Amino acid sequence: MAHKRVAVLGSTGSVGMQALDVVAQHPGHLEVASLAAGSNYELLADQVRKWKPSVVSLATESSANALRNLLDGESPEIVWGDTGLMLATTSADADVVLNAVVGAAGLAATHAALSHGIDVALANKESLVMAGELIMEAAQINTATVLPVDSEPNALHQCLRGTEAATVRRLVLTASGGPFLGWSGKDLDHVTPEHALEHPTWKMGPRITIDSATLMNKGFEIIETRWLFGVPTQNIDVVIHPQSVVHSLIELVDGSMIAYAGPTDMRLPIQDALSYPERWTQGIEPLDLVSSAPWTFEQAEPERYPALALARQALEMGGTAPAILNAADEVAVAAFLEGRLSFARIIPFVAKVLEGCDTTNADNIETILEADAAARSEAKRHLGE
Ligand SMILES: NC(=O)c1ccc[n+]([C@@H]2O[C@H](COP(=O)([O-])OP(=O)(O)OC[C@H]3O[C@@H](n4cnc5c(N)ncnc54)[C@H](OP(=O)(O)O)[C@@H]3O)[C@@H](O)[C@H]2O)c1
Repeated sequence: MAHKRVAVLGSTGSVGMQALDVVAQHPGHLEVASLAAGSNYELLADQVRKWKPSVVSLATESSANALRNLLDGESPEIVWGDTGLMLATTSADADVVLNAVVGAAGLAATHAALSHGIDVALANKESLVMAGELIMEAAQINTATVLPVDSEPNALHQCLRGTEAATVRRLVLTASGGPFLGWSGKDLDHVTPEHALEHPTWKMGPRITIDSATLMNKGFEIIETRWLFGVPTQNIDVVIHPQSVVHSLIELVDGSMIAYAGPTDMRLPIQDALSYPERWTQGIEPLDLVSSAPWTFEQAEPERYPALALARQALEMGGTAPAILNAADEVAVAAFLEGRLSFARIIPFVAKVLEGCDTTNADNIETILEADAAARSEAKRHLGE
């Protein structure tokens, strides 16, 4: 079996900590090359003591200094900011970069890893939402691989293994529907951040939890799927599946379907991405077919879930439009969590920002980051900031 050095970016977050759990379960096969986080230097210090990475990065100089003070006696290279994240990505001799940074902040690292020919186990879906074409191009040119960690695209990846692309008719992403499945539009006016943060089937970081409640997360996955698997958007469907047992399905030309089912535990797709093309053992309790039943599926009604149509619209607009969509959503979700925007206003707000921003060709990462910055300014202007 392979031995891999892993750069864990976003190591203090939900996916990052579970990735370190997976590394702990496979000491002979996985080793931590570097760690990167935003501001949580205390947790990062514990992780450094345990994993002995050669490079450690934080988002700001002050948090990097605070980490240095805590790490008396440990001697990793401590770096910070955008440059620090690049060093953690490319200078620690990693075989694979697990990118679990949240938001647009993860884009440059994904692109840098692939440009250096390093495989990426990708949880940071924003990389593909913002710059899918450039990311997949960088992977192809440098013979590196993007392995999806996000559970639904990972399920599709597993269903597609050994299947001729020409025999696939449709990819079907499942969505739990979030905590407000079946609620009326009026009820949604009174949703609080505390309630929206209670996802019925997954335990995740705050941004993706809110995106799951609005279904913008599923809209992002449509975009992610389009780029990962090179399929036209009209061949990607979404179905509501409240139990989150079937993580996604593919439909073949003869009408057969292949579904991936499994427990709602991110360590499975994380391990799959880190071990691929091998398959390793895992201590997670397997799915109990009887107690997990019934497995139900419902149509994702377009009028009930406008985020899905909005994501498709951004994809059709092309260029920098999906990056604008992501930026507007990041600002909207932060405003909702701080009590400055109601839950029901999140998607109309994102639509308004998308409509109000000029789009250009997405020729390089710099152009995309400029569009991201402009969209954030426009979004903040709409919020009256
Ligand atoms: N959670 C899930 O189950 C799940 C499932 C599928 C996909 N994903 C995707 O995985 C990504 C991470 O999600 P999450 O739920 O793990 O988020 P999270 O719990 O909020 O963690 C985010 C991580 O990113 C770090 N970070 C933030 N800004 C940074 C910066 N500028 N530079 C370096 N690191 C930075 C945070 O560090 P600090 O905490 O130290 O600030 C933290 O380690 C997202 O793209 C999400 O869509 C998550």
